[in-house]
Amino acid sequence: MLFLKEAVFAHQTTGAIAPSSRHLARVIVDKAGVKSARRILELGPGTGVFTEQILRTKADHAHFVALERNENFASRLRHRFPQTAIVQGCATELPSHAATHEIHEADSIVSGLPWTIFDPTLQRTILEGIHNVLGGDGVFATFAYFGPHWLPGGQSFRKMLRSIFPETHTSPVVVRNLPPAFVYYCRK
Ligand SMILES: C[S@@+](CC[C@H](N)C(=O)[O-])C[C@H]1O[C@@H](n2cnc3c(N)ncnc32)[C@H](O)[C@@H]1O
Repeated sequence: MLFLKEAVFAHQTTGAIAPSSRHLARVIVDKAGVKSARRILELGPGTGVFTEQILRTKADHAHFVALERNENFASRLRHRFPQTAIVQGCATELPSHAATHEIHEADSIVSGLPWTIFDPTLQRTILEGIHNVLGGDGVFATFAYFGPHWLPGGQSFRKMLRSIFPETHTSPVVVRNLPPAFVYYCRK
């Protein structure tokens, strides 16, 4: 219910009609290399579908911080995952939030951010921040809905992603998600 409420009242930042499925969560967490990561960041956790999968997968000693802009989502996540560092803030400030939490070179960055509702300047600012915080062997993973990715906005995002992360791959489409989606996973 909270996701639907925020999708209506905070549409400018939520950017989806439903949370991602557990199937998509498994793929993105796998592609992001969470299992072997020591420092993990999550952007835009929403109601915590990816967060839950990260917590299930990560090593016990791994340092994990999630950054969510929406105050209602952040507060719900803190109740749901009391042992996890949930930071309420904007992804444009990722480098400073990461440094405050002593993550200088992340091994894994998982994003649930709604790229298609961001303008190209905002997309670039956030992607460059991710690039700065990602370690040399780190992996950044994000998702896109299958279909809209062929539209001009989806194509220009793909092009920008590839210009910043020359090593960018795509996963098979996850059909058990509403709408079907796939994962981009990138290295520096
Ligand atoms: C499409 S929802 C995805 C939620 C969840 N990861 C999932 O896949 O179900 C996008 C999330 O990104 C958050 N968000 C949007 N803009 C943000 C920003 N600039 N910084 C941090 N979080 C942001 C929204 O509040 C929302 O929780």
